[in-house]
Amino acid sequence: MTARSRRIGVAMLVAAGGVPLPSPLSLVAQDTTVGKKVYVKWCAGCHGETGAGDGPAAAYMLPRPRNFTGAVYKIRTTASGQLPTDADLLRAIDDGLPGSAMPAWRGRLSDAERRDVLAYLKTFSSFFTDTSQHVVALTFGSEPGGGTNAEALKTGRQFYDSIGCRKCHGDQGRGDGPSAPTLKDDAGFPIFAADLHQSWRFRGGATSADIYRRLRTGLDGTPMPSFSDLIDQKFLTDEQLWRLAQYVRSLSPARTPEVRDVIHAPRLAGAVPAAPGDSVWARVDQYWFPLVGQVIRKPRWFAPAVSGVWVQAVHDGKSLALRVSWDDRTRSPDTTWLGFERRVLETVAGGDDSGTGRTAGAFPDQLAVQFPRRIPGGMERPYFLMGAETDPVYQWRWTSAPNAAGGGAAAGLARGLERFDSLPGAPRVQASYDHGEWRVVFTRSLATPDTANELQLEAGRAIPVALFAWDGSSGEHGNRLAVSTWYFLALDQPTPPRVFVTPVVAMLLTLGLGIVVVRRAQRRQA
Ligand code: HEC
Ligand code: HEC
Repeated sequence: MTARSRRIGVAMLVAAGGVPLPSPLSLVAQDTTVGKKVYVKWCAGCHGETGAGDGPAAAYMLPRPRNFTGAVYKIRTTASGQLPTDADLLRAIDDGLPGSAMPAWRGRLSDAERRDVLAYLKTFSSFFTDTSQHVVALTFGSEPGGGTNAEALKTGRQFYDSIGCRKCHGDQGRGDGPSAPTLKDDAGFPIFAADLHQSWRFRGGATSADIYRRLRTGLDGTPMPSFSDLIDQKFLTDEQLWRLAQYVRSLSPARTPEVRDVIHAPRLAGAVPAAPGDSVWARVDQYWFPLVGQVIRKPRWFAPAVSGVWVQAVHDGKSLALRVSWDDRTRSPDTTWLGFERRVLETVAGGDDSGTGRTAGAFPDQLAVQFPRRIPGGMERPYFLMGAETDPVYQWRWTSAPNAAGGGAAAGLARGLERFDSLPGAPRVQASYDHGEWRVVFTRSLATPDTANELQLEAGRAIPVALFAWDGSSGEHGNRLAVSTWYFLALDQPTPPRVFVTPVVAMLLTLGLGIVVVRRAQRRQA
Protein backbone atom coordinates (compact mmCIF):
# COMPACT_ATOMS: atom_id res chain seq x y z
CA MET A 1 0.00 0.00 0.00
CA THR A 2 1.43 3.38 -0.90
CA ALA A 3 1.58 6.11 1.67
CA ARG A 4 -0.94 8.11 -0.27
CA SER A 5 -3.55 5.37 -0.12
CA ARG A 6 -2.68 4.93 3.56
CA ARG A 7 -3.52 8.58 4.09
CA ILE A 8 -6.77 8.29 2.22
CA GLY A 9 -7.47 5.33 4.46
CA VAL A 10 -6.96 7.47 7.53
CA ALA A 11 -9.21 10.17 6.10
CA MET A 12 -11.99 7.68 5.49
CA LEU A 13 -11.68 6.31 9.00
CA VAL A 14 -11.94 9.80 10.36
CA ALA A 15 -14.96 10.56 8.20
CA ALA A 16 -16.61 7.35 9.39
CA GLY A 17 -16.02 8.36 12.98
CA GLY A 18 -13.68 5.41 13.51
CA VAL A 19 -10.84 7.47 14.94
CA PRO A 20 -11.48 10.00 17.67
CA LEU A 21 -9.67 13.02 16.36
CA PRO A 22 -8.78 15.70 18.84
CA SER A 23 -9.13 19.26 17.70
CA PRO A 24 -5.92 20.04 15.84
CA LEU A 25 -5.29 23.10 18.00
CA SER A 26 -5.07 21.17 21.24
CA LEU A 27 -2.39 18.86 19.92
CA VAL A 28 0.43 21.17 19.10
CA ALA A 29 2.79 22.48 21.68
CA GLN A 30 3.65 25.64 19.81
CA ASP A 31 1.42 28.69 20.05
CA THR A 32 -0.87 28.58 17.03
CA THR A 33 -2.67 31.85 17.83
CA VAL A 34 0.52 33.80 17.24
CA GLY A 35 1.22 31.52 14.27
CA LYS A 36 -2.15 32.36 12.80
CA LYS A 37 -1.43 36.09 12.98
CA VAL A 38 1.86 35.61 11.17
CA TYR A 39 0.18 33.38 8.61
CA VAL A 40 -2.66 35.78 7.85
CA LYS A 41 -0.25 38.67 7.48
CA TRP A 42 2.54 37.03 5.47
CA CYS A 43 1.37 33.77 3.91
CA ALA A 44 -2.38 33.92 3.21
CA GLY A 45 -1.98 36.24 0.19
CA CYS A 46 -0.48 33.29 -1.66
CA HIS A 47 -1.46 30.19 0.31
CA GLY A 48 -5.04 31.32 1.10
CA GLU A 49 -6.87 31.91 4.40
CA THR A 50 -7.78 28.23 4.66
CA GLY A 51 -4.38 27.00 3.48
CA ALA A 52 -5.81 25.65 0.23
CA GLY A 53 -3.14 27.34 -1.88
CA ASP A 54 -5.69 29.72 -3.35
CA GLY A 55 -4.81 33.19 -2.03
CA PRO A 56 -5.58 36.22 -4.21
CA ALA A 57 -2.09 36.11 -5.78
CA ALA A 58 -2.07 32.35 -6.44
CA ALA A 59 -3.56 32.41 -9.92
CA TYR A 60 -0.59 34.41 -11.23
CA MET A 61 1.93 31.75 -10.23
CA LEU A 62 3.37 28.64 -11.78
CA PRO A 63 4.13 26.55 -9.74
CA ARG A 64 1.11 27.41 -7.61
CA PRO A 65 1.49 28.00 -3.85
CA ARG A 66 1.27 24.80 -1.81
CA ASN A 67 -2.15 23.60 -0.75
CA PHE A 68 -1.48 22.79 2.92
CA THR A 69 -4.73 20.86 3.42
CA GLY A 70 -3.36 17.84 1.56
CA ALA A 71 -0.09 17.76 3.53
CA VAL A 72 1.83 16.75 0.40
CA TYR A 73 5.28 18.34 0.41
CA LYS A 74 8.04 18.43 -2.17
CA ILE A 75 11.17 18.93 -0.10
CA ARG A 76 11.50 16.26 2.58
CA THR A 77 14.05 14.02 4.20
CA THR A 78 11.33 11.38 4.63
CA ALA A 79 10.43 8.56 2.26
CA SER A 80 8.16 9.14 -0.72
CA GLY A 81 4.55 9.53 0.38
CA GLN A 82 5.45 10.36 3.99
CA LEU A 83 4.79 13.54 5.91
CA PRO A 84 7.73 15.95 6.18
CA THR A 85 9.58 16.50 9.48
CA ASP A 86 9.28 19.86 11.22
CA ALA A 87 12.88 20.50 10.21
CA ASP A 88 11.96 19.94 6.54
CA LEU A 89 9.13 22.46 6.75
CA LEU A 90 11.26 24.93 8.62
CA ARG A 91 13.94 24.69 5.97
CA ALA A 92 11.39 25.56 3.25
CA ILE A 93 10.17 28.50 5.33
CA ASP A 94 13.70 29.70 6.21
CA ASP A 95 15.31 29.33 2.79
CA GLY A 96 12.27 29.56 0.51
CA LEU A 97 11.95 27.46 -2.62
CA PRO A 98 14.31 28.80 -5.31
CA GLY A 99 12.88 28.92 -8.82
CA SER A 100 9.37 29.54 -7.44
CA ALA A 101 7.54 32.50 -5.89
CA MET A 102 8.05 31.10 -2.36
CA PRO A 103 10.27 33.63 -0.53
CA ALA A 104 12.88 32.90 2.16
CA TRP A 105 11.61 34.10 5.55
CA ARG A 106 14.80 33.92 7.61
CA GLY A 107 15.69 37.51 8.42
CA ARG A 108 12.14 38.70 7.63
CA LEU A 109 10.42 36.87 10.48
CA SER A 110 11.90 36.13 13.91
CA ASP A 111 12.85 32.58 14.93
CA ALA A 112 9.76 32.42 17.13
CA GLU A 113 7.47 33.69 14.37
CA ARG A 114 8.78 31.12 11.91
CA ARG A 115 8.30 28.30 14.42
CA ASP A 116 4.81 29.51 15.27
CA VAL A 117 3.70 29.80 11.66
CA LEU A 118 5.04 26.30 11.04
CA ALA A 119 2.90 24.98 13.89
CA TYR A 120 -0.09 26.83 12.48
CA LEU A 121 0.25 25.55 8.93
CA LYS A 122 0.28 21.98 10.23
CA THR A 123 -3.22 22.57 11.63
CA PHE A 124 -4.55 22.82 8.07
CA SER A 125 -4.24 19.06 7.69
CA SER A 126 -5.46 16.32 9.98
CA PHE A 127 -2.63 14.08 8.78
CA PHE A 128 -0.27 15.87 11.16
CA THR A 129 -2.52 15.05 14.12
CA ASP A 130 -2.43 11.32 13.37
CA THR A 131 0.14 10.26 15.93
CA SER A 132 0.25 6.69 14.61
CA GLN A 133 2.27 8.00 11.69
CA HIS A 134 5.84 8.24 12.84
CA VAL A 135 7.57 10.90 10.87
CA VAL A 136 11.17 9.80 10.58
CA ALA A 137 13.88 11.28 8.46
CA LEU A 138 15.78 8.78 6.32
CA THR A 139 19.43 8.47 7.18
CA PHE A 140 21.72 9.24 4.31
CA GLY A 141 25.36 8.22 4.19
CA SER A 142 27.98 10.79 3.40
CA GLU A 143 28.96 11.78 -0.08
CA PRO A 144 31.73 9.71 -1.67
CA GLY A 145 34.73 11.81 -2.68
CA GLY A 146 36.05 12.34 -6.19
CA GLY A 147 32.67 13.58 -7.35
CA THR A 148 34.10 15.72 -10.12
CA ASN A 149 36.40 13.03 -11.60
CA ALA A 150 35.71 11.94 -15.16
CA GLU A 151 35.21 8.33 -13.97
CA ALA A 152 32.60 9.31 -11.36
CA LEU A 153 30.73 11.50 -13.85
CA LYS A 154 30.78 8.72 -16.43
CA THR A 155 29.16 6.33 -13.95
CA GLY A 156 26.59 9.00 -13.12
CA ARG A 157 25.83 9.55 -16.78
CA GLN A 158 25.33 5.82 -17.35
CA PHE A 159 22.62 5.71 -14.70
CA TYR A 160 21.11 8.96 -15.98
CA ASP A 161 20.47 7.05 -19.21
CA SER A 162 19.58 3.67 -17.76
CA ILE A 163 17.06 4.71 -15.11
CA GLY A 164 15.08 7.00 -17.34
CA CYS A 165 15.99 10.53 -16.24
CA ARG A 166 16.23 11.55 -19.86
CA LYS A 167 12.61 10.60 -20.49
CA CYS A 168 11.61 13.80 -18.70
CA HIS A 169 14.82 15.83 -18.36
CA GLY A 170 16.12 15.18 -21.89
CA ASP A 171 19.43 13.99 -23.28
CA GLN A 172 21.40 17.01 -22.03
CA GLY A 173 19.20 17.69 -19.00
CA ARG A 174 17.45 20.87 -20.14
CA GLY A 175 13.96 19.55 -19.38
CA ASP A 176 13.17 18.62 -22.98
CA GLY A 177 12.65 14.85 -22.74
CA PRO A 178 9.92 13.15 -24.78
CA SER A 179 7.56 12.98 -21.76
CA ALA A 180 8.13 16.63 -20.76
CA PRO A 181 5.21 18.12 -22.76
CA THR A 182 2.73 15.78 -21.03
CA LEU A 183 3.68 16.44 -17.40
CA LYS A 184 1.30 17.78 -14.77
CA ASP A 185 1.37 17.90 -11.00
CA ASP A 186 -1.13 16.18 -8.70
CA ALA A 187 -3.44 19.21 -8.84
CA GLY A 188 -3.49 18.96 -12.63
CA PHE A 189 -1.37 22.04 -13.32
CA PRO A 190 1.29 21.85 -16.02
CA ILE A 191 4.78 21.30 -14.58
CA PHE A 192 8.16 21.66 -16.24
CA ALA A 193 10.76 18.94 -15.80
CA ALA A 194 13.55 20.87 -14.07
CA ASP A 195 16.35 22.32 -16.20
CA LEU A 196 19.34 20.48 -14.72
CA HIS A 197 21.72 23.21 -15.96
CA GLN A 198 20.26 25.67 -13.45
CA SER A 199 20.87 24.06 -10.07
CA TRP A 200 20.40 27.42 -8.35
CA ARG A 201 16.72 27.10 -9.22
CA PHE A 202 16.28 23.66 -7.64
CA ARG A 203 13.60 23.87 -4.94
CA GLY A 204 15.56 21.74 -2.51
CA GLY A 205 19.04 23.21 -2.96
CA ALA A 206 21.91 23.01 -5.41
CA THR A 207 24.56 20.77 -3.82
CA SER A 208 25.19 17.14 -4.81
CA ALA A 209 23.89 16.16 -1.36
CA ASP A 210 20.66 18.09 -1.93
CA ILE A 211 20.22 16.40 -5.32
CA TYR A 212 20.97 12.98 -3.83
CA ARG A 213 18.26 13.55 -1.19
CA ARG A 214 15.74 14.50 -3.87
CA LEU A 215 16.56 11.29 -5.76
CA ARG A 216 16.00 9.29 -2.56
CA THR A 217 12.75 11.00 -1.56
CA GLY A 218 11.23 12.23 -4.84
CA LEU A 219 9.26 15.47 -5.01
CA ASP A 220 5.81 14.45 -3.77
CA GLY A 221 2.89 15.93 -5.64
CA THR A 222 4.95 16.04 -8.86
CA PRO A 223 5.90 13.46 -11.52
CA MET A 224 9.48 13.44 -10.14
CA PRO A 225 9.71 10.01 -8.48
CA SER A 226 11.88 8.58 -5.70
CA PHE A 227 14.60 6.19 -6.78
CA SER A 228 15.15 4.56 -3.37
CA ASP A 229 13.39 1.38 -4.57
CA LEU A 230 16.10 0.83 -7.15
CA ILE A 231 18.68 0.62 -4.36
CA ASP A 232 16.48 -1.82 -2.41
CA GLN A 233 16.12 -3.90 -5.57
CA LYS A 234 19.91 -3.80 -6.02
CA PHE A 235 19.52 -2.25 -9.44
CA LEU A 236 22.15 0.23 -8.40
CA THR A 237 24.25 0.85 -5.31
CA ASP A 238 23.99 3.81 -3.01
CA GLU A 239 27.36 4.99 -4.28
CA GLN A 240 26.13 4.86 -7.88
CA LEU A 241 23.13 7.02 -6.93
CA TRP A 242 25.59 9.51 -5.43
CA ARG A 243 27.53 9.47 -8.73
CA LEU A 244 24.29 10.26 -10.53
CA ALA A 245 23.68 13.19 -8.17
CA GLN A 246 27.24 14.38 -8.80
CA TYR A 247 26.76 14.06 -12.55
CA VAL A 248 23.58 16.15 -12.35
CA ARG A 249 25.47 18.74 -10.28
CA SER A 250 28.23 18.91 -12.89
CA LEU A 251 25.75 20.13 -15.52
CA SER A 252 25.41 23.52 -13.78
CA PRO A 253 28.12 26.11 -13.16
CA ALA A 254 30.16 25.45 -10.00
CA ARG A 255 28.70 28.59 -8.45
CA THR A 256 25.41 30.41 -8.80
CA PRO A 257 25.94 32.95 -11.56
CA GLU A 258 26.78 36.34 -10.19
CA VAL A 259 25.09 39.31 -11.77
CA ARG A 260 27.64 41.88 -12.93
CA ASP A 261 26.74 45.30 -14.26
CA VAL A 262 29.30 45.60 -17.03
CA ILE A 263 29.91 43.14 -19.90
CA HIS A 264 33.52 43.47 -21.04
CA ALA A 265 34.13 42.89 -24.72
CA PRO A 266 37.83 42.10 -25.16
CA ARG A 267 39.57 43.31 -28.30
CA LEU A 268 40.75 40.50 -30.56
CA ALA A 269 43.75 40.63 -32.87
CA GLY A 270 41.87 38.64 -35.56
CA ALA A 271 38.38 39.10 -36.98
CA VAL A 272 35.35 38.63 -34.70
CA PRO A 273 33.68 35.17 -34.68
CA ALA A 274 30.33 35.16 -36.47
CA ALA A 275 29.46 31.51 -35.78
CA PRO A 276 27.84 30.42 -32.49
CA GLY A 277 30.15 27.40 -32.28
CA ASP A 278 33.42 29.30 -32.88
CA SER A 279 36.18 28.23 -30.49
CA VAL A 280 36.84 31.88 -29.53
CA TRP A 281 33.67 31.89 -27.41
CA ALA A 282 35.09 29.22 -25.09
CA ARG A 283 37.83 31.67 -24.07
CA VAL A 284 35.64 34.73 -23.47
CA ASP A 285 33.99 35.55 -20.12
CA GLN A 286 30.25 35.05 -20.05
CA TYR A 287 27.84 37.25 -18.15
CA TRP A 288 24.49 36.20 -16.69
CA PHE A 289 21.49 38.47 -17.22
CA PRO A 290 18.51 37.42 -15.08
CA LEU A 291 15.16 38.04 -16.76
CA VAL A 292 11.75 38.57 -15.14
CA GLY A 293 8.20 38.55 -16.45
CA GLN A 294 6.80 41.68 -18.07
CA VAL A 295 4.25 42.76 -15.44
CA ILE A 296 4.06 46.51 -16.14
CA ARG A 297 1.93 46.70 -19.27
CA LYS A 298 -1.20 44.68 -19.98
CA PRO A 299 -1.38 41.85 -20.84
CA ARG A 300 1.02 41.08 -17.98
CA TRP A 301 3.06 37.91 -17.81
CA PHE A 302 4.01 36.31 -14.51
CA ALA A 303 5.43 33.02 -15.77
CA PRO A 304 8.42 33.88 -17.97
CA ALA A 305 9.90 30.75 -19.53
CA VAL A 306 13.43 32.14 -19.94
CA SER A 307 14.88 32.87 -16.50
CA GLY A 308 18.05 34.44 -17.84
CA VAL A 309 20.53 34.60 -20.70
CA TRP A 310 24.33 34.34 -20.94
CA VAL A 311 25.99 37.15 -22.87
CA GLN A 312 29.48 37.33 -24.37
CA ALA A 313 30.97 40.03 -26.55
CA VAL A 314 34.19 40.65 -28.49
CA HIS A 315 35.33 43.27 -30.97
CA ASP A 316 38.25 43.82 -33.34
CA GLY A 317 38.26 47.60 -33.59
CA LYS A 318 35.89 47.49 -36.58
CA SER A 319 33.05 45.11 -35.67
CA LEU A 320 31.31 43.81 -32.57
CA ALA A 321 30.14 40.22 -32.12
CA LEU A 322 27.65 39.53 -29.35
CA ARG A 323 26.68 35.97 -28.45
CA VAL A 324 23.53 35.35 -26.41
CA SER A 325 22.91 31.78 -25.16
CA TRP A 326 19.91 30.58 -23.22
CA ASP A 327 18.10 27.41 -22.23
CA ASP A 328 14.80 26.81 -23.98
CA ARG A 329 13.36 23.31 -23.91
CA THR A 330 11.56 23.85 -27.21
CA ARG A 331 12.69 24.87 -30.63
CA SER A 332 9.61 26.89 -31.43
CA PRO A 333 7.39 26.84 -33.35
CA ASP A 334 6.94 23.26 -32.13
CA THR A 335 3.49 21.72 -32.33
CA THR A 336 4.33 18.85 -29.92
CA TRP A 337 4.15 21.45 -27.12
CA LEU A 338 0.83 23.04 -28.20
CA GLY A 339 -1.17 21.14 -25.55
CA PHE A 340 1.28 22.13 -22.83
CA GLU A 341 1.23 25.74 -24.01
CA ARG A 342 -2.56 25.78 -23.86
CA ARG A 343 -2.46 24.46 -20.29
CA VAL A 344 0.09 27.12 -19.24
CA LEU A 345 -2.04 29.90 -20.75
CA GLU A 346 -5.12 28.56 -18.98
CA THR A 347 -3.30 28.28 -15.65
CA VAL A 348 -1.50 31.60 -15.35
CA ALA A 349 -3.69 34.67 -14.95
CA GLY A 350 -2.49 37.95 -16.42
CA GLY A 351 -4.86 40.53 -15.00
CA ASP A 352 -6.22 40.74 -18.55
CA ASP A 353 -9.66 39.32 -17.96
CA SER A 354 -10.68 39.95 -21.53
CA GLY A 355 -8.52 36.92 -22.32
CA THR A 356 -7.32 38.54 -25.53
CA GLY A 357 -4.45 36.81 -27.28
CA ARG A 358 -4.74 33.83 -24.96
CA THR A 359 -5.10 31.32 -27.75
CA ALA A 360 -2.26 28.85 -27.98
CA GLY A 361 -0.39 29.06 -31.24
CA ALA A 362 2.79 27.93 -32.92
CA PHE A 363 4.72 31.08 -31.99
CA PRO A 364 8.47 31.38 -32.71
CA ASP A 365 11.19 32.02 -30.13
CA GLN A 366 12.46 35.59 -30.13
CA LEU A 367 15.24 37.70 -28.70
CA ALA A 368 15.81 41.45 -28.59
CA VAL A 369 19.02 43.29 -27.70
CA GLN A 370 18.34 46.89 -26.82
CA PHE A 371 20.57 49.97 -26.81
CA PRO A 372 19.87 53.69 -26.65
CA ARG A 373 20.24 55.46 -30.02
CA ARG A 374 23.30 57.31 -28.72
CA ILE A 375 25.77 56.58 -25.93
CA PRO A 376 24.57 58.86 -23.12
CA GLY A 377 26.97 61.36 -21.56
CA GLY A 378 25.67 60.82 -18.03
CA MET A 379 23.38 58.30 -16.36
CA GLU A 380 20.22 59.24 -18.33
CA ARG A 381 18.82 56.39 -20.43
CA PRO A 382 15.56 55.81 -22.31
CA TYR A 383 12.75 53.89 -20.59
CA PHE A 384 14.05 50.32 -20.15
CA LEU A 385 10.82 48.73 -21.36
CA MET A 386 11.40 49.41 -25.06
CA GLY A 387 11.63 53.18 -24.87
CA ALA A 388 8.79 55.62 -25.40
CA GLU A 389 7.00 57.38 -28.26
CA THR A 390 9.25 60.44 -28.00
CA ASP A 391 12.39 58.65 -26.82
CA PRO A 392 12.82 55.45 -28.84
CA VAL A 393 15.46 52.76 -28.32
CA TYR A 394 17.59 51.05 -30.94
CA GLN A 395 17.08 47.26 -31.03
CA TRP A 396 18.37 44.15 -32.74
CA ARG A 397 15.72 41.50 -33.00
CA TRP A 398 15.93 37.86 -33.87
CA THR A 399 13.18 35.32 -34.52
CA SER A 400 13.26 31.55 -35.00
CA ALA A 401 10.30 31.77 -37.41
CA PRO A 402 11.13 29.61 -40.41
CA ASN A 403 11.85 31.55 -43.61
CA ALA A 404 12.10 34.90 -41.79
CA ALA A 405 13.81 37.62 -43.83
CA GLY A 406 17.45 38.47 -43.07
CA GLY A 407 18.07 35.06 -41.44
CA GLY A 408 15.63 36.14 -38.74
CA ALA A 409 17.46 39.36 -37.80
CA ALA A 410 16.14 42.90 -37.94
CA ALA A 411 17.14 46.27 -36.51
CA GLY A 412 14.78 49.06 -35.70
CA LEU A 413 13.51 51.67 -33.31
CA ALA A 414 11.08 50.60 -30.58
CA ARG A 415 8.74 53.24 -29.19
CA GLY A 416 7.20 51.29 -26.33
CA LEU A 417 6.12 47.64 -26.34
CA GLU A 418 3.61 48.06 -29.14
CA ARG A 419 5.62 49.86 -31.80
CA PHE A 420 8.71 48.71 -33.69
CA ASP A 421 9.84 50.55 -36.84
CA SER A 422 12.40 48.56 -38.83
CA LEU A 423 15.53 50.23 -40.12
CA PRO A 424 17.16 49.18 -43.38
CA GLY A 425 20.50 48.05 -41.86
CA ALA A 426 20.16 44.84 -39.84
CA PRO A 427 23.04 43.17 -37.97
CA ARG A 428 24.24 39.86 -39.34
CA VAL A 429 23.00 36.90 -37.33
CA GLN A 430 23.80 33.20 -36.97
CA ALA A 431 21.79 30.96 -34.66
CA SER A 432 22.08 27.36 -33.53
CA TYR A 433 19.79 25.17 -31.44
CA ASP A 434 21.07 22.07 -29.70
CA HIS A 435 19.33 19.95 -27.05
CA GLY A 436 17.47 22.75 -25.35
CA GLU A 437 19.95 25.58 -25.88
CA TRP A 438 19.83 28.54 -28.26
CA ARG A 439 22.97 30.39 -29.23
CA VAL A 440 22.58 33.50 -31.32
CA VAL A 441 25.48 35.64 -32.55
CA PHE A 442 24.88 39.18 -33.79
CA THR A 443 27.68 40.98 -35.62
CA ARG A 444 27.66 44.61 -36.70
CA SER A 445 30.29 47.18 -37.61
CA LEU A 446 31.04 49.62 -34.81
CA ALA A 447 30.27 52.61 -37.06
CA THR A 448 27.36 52.79 -39.51
CA PRO A 449 26.18 55.46 -41.98
CA ASP A 450 22.84 56.10 -40.21
CA THR A 451 24.25 57.94 -37.20
CA ALA A 452 20.87 59.49 -36.37
CA ASN A 453 19.08 56.20 -35.62
CA GLU A 454 21.72 53.50 -35.22
CA LEU A 455 23.90 53.41 -32.13
CA GLN A 456 27.55 54.13 -32.97
CA LEU A 457 29.60 51.70 -30.88
CA GLU A 458 32.77 53.11 -29.33
CA ALA A 459 35.50 51.48 -27.29
CA GLY A 460 36.10 52.71 -23.76
CA ARG A 461 32.53 53.93 -23.19
CA ALA A 462 29.77 52.50 -20.99
CA ILE A 463 27.09 51.50 -23.51
CA PRO A 464 23.68 50.74 -21.95
CA VAL A 465 22.23 47.38 -23.04
CA ALA A 466 19.11 45.39 -22.11
CA LEU A 467 17.72 42.05 -23.26
CA PHE A 468 14.30 40.51 -23.87
CA ALA A 469 13.33 36.91 -24.64
CA TRP A 470 10.21 35.09 -25.76
CA ASP A 471 9.59 31.32 -25.70
CA GLY A 472 6.96 30.67 -28.36
CA SER A 473 5.95 27.27 -26.99
CA SER A 474 5.05 28.84 -23.64
CA GLY A 475 2.64 31.11 -25.51
CA GLU A 476 5.03 34.05 -25.32
CA HIS A 477 4.61 36.75 -27.95
CA GLY A 478 3.89 40.47 -27.87
CA ASN A 479 3.74 41.76 -24.30
CA ARG A 480 4.07 38.28 -22.86
CA LEU A 481 7.85 38.10 -22.52
CA ALA A 482 10.83 38.11 -20.17
CA VAL A 483 12.68 41.39 -19.64
CA SER A 484 15.92 42.66 -18.12
CA THR A 485 16.81 46.04 -16.77
CA TRP A 486 19.64 48.17 -18.25
CA TYR A 487 23.20 46.85 -17.96
CA PHE A 488 26.37 48.14 -19.63
CA LEU A 489 28.57 46.90 -22.43
CA ALA A 490 32.19 48.11 -22.49
CA LEU A 491 34.41 47.49 -25.50
CA ASP A 492 37.97 47.21 -24.22
CA GLN A 493 40.46 49.63 -25.74
CA PRO A 494 43.84 48.37 -26.92
CA THR A 495 45.93 48.40 -23.75
CA PRO A 496 47.67 51.77 -23.71
CA PRO A 497 51.43 51.68 -22.97
CA ARG A 498 50.94 53.73 -19.80
CA VAL A 499 49.14 50.77 -18.11
CA PHE A 500 52.42 48.89 -18.15
CA VAL A 501 54.54 51.94 -17.23
CA THR A 502 52.49 53.00 -14.23
CA PRO A 503 53.22 50.02 -11.95
CA VAL A 504 56.94 50.34 -12.69
CA VAL A 505 56.90 54.04 -11.89
CA ALA A 506 54.92 53.38 -8.73
CA MET A 507 57.44 50.77 -7.64
CA LEU A 508 60.38 53.07 -8.25
CA LEU A 509 58.67 55.85 -6.35
CA THR A 510 57.95 53.59 -3.38
CA LEU A 511 61.48 52.27 -3.41
CA GLY A 512 62.84 55.81 -3.64
CA LEU A 513 60.66 56.97 -0.76
CA GLY A 514 61.74 53.97 1.27
CA ILE A 515 65.35 54.81 0.75
CA VAL A 516 64.76 58.41 1.82
CA VAL A 517 62.96 57.24 5.00
CA VAL A 518 65.70 54.76 5.85
CA ARG A 519 68.47 57.34 5.24
CA ARG A 520 66.71 59.86 7.49
CA ALA A 521 66.34 57.28 10.24
CA GLN A 522 69.99 56.34 9.95
CA ARG A 523 71.01 59.96 10.08
CA ARG A 524 68.94 60.51 13.23
CA GLN A 525 70.54 57.52 14.92
CA ALA A 526 73.98 58.67 14.00
C1 HEC B 1 4.53 35.21 -2.93
C2 HEC B 1 3.79 34.01 -2.66
C3 HEC B 1 4.12 33.21 -1.41
C4 HEC B 1 4.13 33.66 -0.10
C5 HEC B 1 3.90 35.07 0.40
C6 HEC B 1 4.40 32.50 0.69
N1 HEC B 1 4.55 31.40 -0.09
FE1 HEC B 1 4.93 29.51 0.55
N2 HEC B 1 4.95 28.87 -1.36
C7 HEC B 1 4.70 29.63 -2.47
C8 HEC B 1 4.77 28.82 -3.65
C9 HEC B 1 4.56 29.29 -5.08
C10 HEC B 1 5.07 27.53 -3.21
C11 HEC B 1 5.22 26.28 -4.09
C12 HEC B 1 6.54 26.18 -4.79
C13 HEC B 1 6.68 24.88 -5.52
O1 HEC B 1 5.77 24.07 -5.46
O2 HEC B 1 7.71 24.66 -6.12
C14 HEC B 1 5.17 27.58 -1.77
C15 HEC B 1 5.44 26.49 -0.97
C16 HEC B 1 5.49 26.52 0.42
C17 HEC B 1 5.77 25.37 1.26
C18 HEC B 1 5.98 23.96 0.77
C19 HEC B 1 7.37 23.42 0.84
C20 HEC B 1 7.47 22.05 0.23
O3 HEC B 1 8.47 21.37 0.49
O4 HEC B 1 6.58 21.60 -0.48
C21 HEC B 1 5.71 25.81 2.56
C22 HEC B 1 5.94 24.99 3.80
C23 HEC B 1 5.43 27.22 2.52
N3 HEC B 1 5.31 27.62 1.21
C24 HEC B 1 5.28 28.01 3.63
C25 HEC B 1 5.02 29.38 3.59
C26 HEC B 1 4.87 30.20 4.77
C27 HEC B 1 4.94 29.70 6.19
C28 HEC B 1 4.65 31.46 4.34
C29 HEC B 1 4.47 32.72 5.16
C30 HEC B 1 5.45 32.99 6.16
C31 HEC B 1 4.65 31.42 2.88
N4 HEC B 1 4.86 30.14 2.47
C32 HEC B 1 4.46 32.52 2.07
C33 HEC B 1 4.43 30.97 -2.48
C34 HEC B 1 4.38 31.79 -1.38
C1 HEC C 1 8.42 11.36 -14.98
C2 HEC C 1 9.29 12.48 -15.22
C3 HEC C 1 10.58 12.56 -14.44
C4 HEC C 1 11.57 11.61 -14.32
C5 HEC C 1 11.60 10.21 -14.88
C6 HEC C 1 12.63 12.24 -13.56
N1 HEC C 1 12.28 13.51 -13.22
FE1 HEC C 1 13.41 14.82 -12.19
N2 HEC C 1 11.88 16.14 -12.19
C7 HEC C 1 10.71 15.99 -12.87
C8 HEC C 1 9.88 17.16 -12.65
C9 HEC C 1 8.51 17.41 -13.23
C10 HEC C 1 10.62 18.02 -11.81
C11 HEC C 1 10.20 19.39 -11.32
C12 HEC C 1 9.50 19.31 -9.99
C13 HEC C 1 9.09 20.70 -9.54
O1 HEC C 1 9.11 21.65 -10.29
O2 HEC C 1 8.75 20.80 -8.37
C14 HEC C 1 11.87 17.33 -11.53
C15 HEC C 1 12.86 17.86 -10.73
C16 HEC C 1 14.13 17.33 -10.64
C17 HEC C 1 15.23 17.95 -9.95
C18 HEC C 1 15.19 19.27 -9.17
C19 HEC C 1 14.92 18.99 -7.70
C20 HEC C 1 14.64 20.24 -6.89
O3 HEC C 1 15.13 20.33 -5.77
O4 HEC C 1 13.93 21.13 -7.41
C21 HEC C 1 16.33 17.16 -10.13
C22 HEC C 1 17.73 17.41 -9.61
C23 HEC C 1 15.90 16.02 -10.91
N3 HEC C 1 14.56 16.15 -11.19
C24 HEC C 1 16.72 14.99 -11.30
C25 HEC C 1 16.25 13.81 -11.86
C26 HEC C 1 17.07 12.65 -12.11
C27 HEC C 1 18.56 12.57 -11.86
C28 HEC C 1 16.26 11.70 -12.63
C29 HEC C 1 16.59 10.26 -12.96
C30 HEC C 1 17.09 9.47 -11.86
C31 HEC C 1 14.92 12.27 -12.73
N4 HEC C 1 14.97 13.55 -12.26
C32 HEC C 1 13.82 11.62 -13.25
C33 HEC C 1 10.32 14.92 -13.62
C34 HEC C 1 11.04 13.74 -13.73
